[in-house]
Amino acid sequence: MNKRLLEILICPRCLPDEIQLAEKITDIKGNDIINGELRCPGCGKIYFIENGIADLVPNPSDTGTQTDTKYETPSVVSSYIWSHFADIMKEESASEAYLKWAGLIRPHSGMALDTGCAVGRFTFEISRLCDFVIGIDNSHAFIKTARELMINRKMNVSLKQEGCIHRNALLSLPETWNKEKTEFILGDAQMLPFKKNSFSSFCSLNLVDKLSKPISHLKEMNRITLRQNSQFLLSDPFSWSTDVAEVEEWLGGKNDGPLAGRGIDNIVHLLTDHLFCNSLPWIIESLGNVWWKIRTHENHFEQIRSCYIKARR
Ligand SMILES: C[S@@+](CC[C@H](N)C(=O)[O-])C[C@H]1O[C@@H](n2cnc3c(N)ncnc32)[C@H](O)[C@@H]1O
Repeated sequence: MNKRLLEILICPRCLPDEIQLAEKITDIKGNDIINGELRCPGCGKIYFIENGIADLVPNPSDTGTQTDTKYETPSVVSSYIWSHFADIMKEESASEAYLKWAGLIRPHSGMALDTGCAVGRFTFEISRLCDFVIGIDNSHAFIKTARELMINRKMNVSLKQEGCIHRNALLSLPETWNKEKTEFILGDAQMLPFKKNSFSSFCSLNLVDKLSKPISHLKEMNRITLRQNSQFLLSDPFSWSTDVAEVEEWLGGKNDGPLAGRGIDNIVHLLTDHLFCNSLPWIIESLGNVWWKIRTHENHFEQIRSCYIKARR
């Protein structure tokens, strides 16, 4: 973990108190802490850094849903590598989704956060647009892959063709994606391990419908973004499911009760609400959608319409 993060990390378990973590570094290479511990002086919890990967997930068992292990399997990692980097690997049927989303973010000074970053494509895109970007996800397999790509810049990827038949493809990262300005850590997008007002931009792509408490994610976004001169991009297909969250927790997709109606309308309403945003509401810049694609094998793709809200304050 880049030691630059030490300035902004806090204990996610002690929220809403923001308690700075005490570091014990056992192995460091340049700015990269390879092994060490981050201890909370408040609750005593120790967060480990192992092989460069900092694990800031507050309560691993609390995020427990049926879908938890889904993002840890080699076949899903391979699918997401294709989804994120198919255009870079010059694959047939690649989509331009991440370039379209990146085009919505204005270059800015300060830090950016990509929540639910998976294997890191959007985080790498944002590294061109800011001083430093952090990708955060609760899948160890995804963060390990993203960090390996960041460090080695090359990876041999095994892509499923049919059944047990795979083919190899070489992924090489473009020079413009800056390793010195990028880091990936493990954490929960509903209890973020960062001090308030730390980020100039916050992105949440295809994540909000995968969370057990999506409203906590929006509250956390509001807490850790700057009170002025900040940008927020949320994009989602709104595939609400009881496999992930109770219906009462969904931010839309319901006929009655609080947050009845469409997810996109309800999120716009929350972002522009003075009370929800602690007197600093967001201004909606644009609404739209991006077609996003996931590949399972040579003849099977999922095409997803992800609806976005771009806001600033
Ligand atoms: C549908 S994928 C989208 C990935 C990426 N944002 C994209 O658009 O390509 C959802 C991602 O959210 C991550 N995720 C799910 N629950 C999470 C949580 N509570 N905290 C952080 N990441 C989470 C998953 O591991 C996965 O990488």
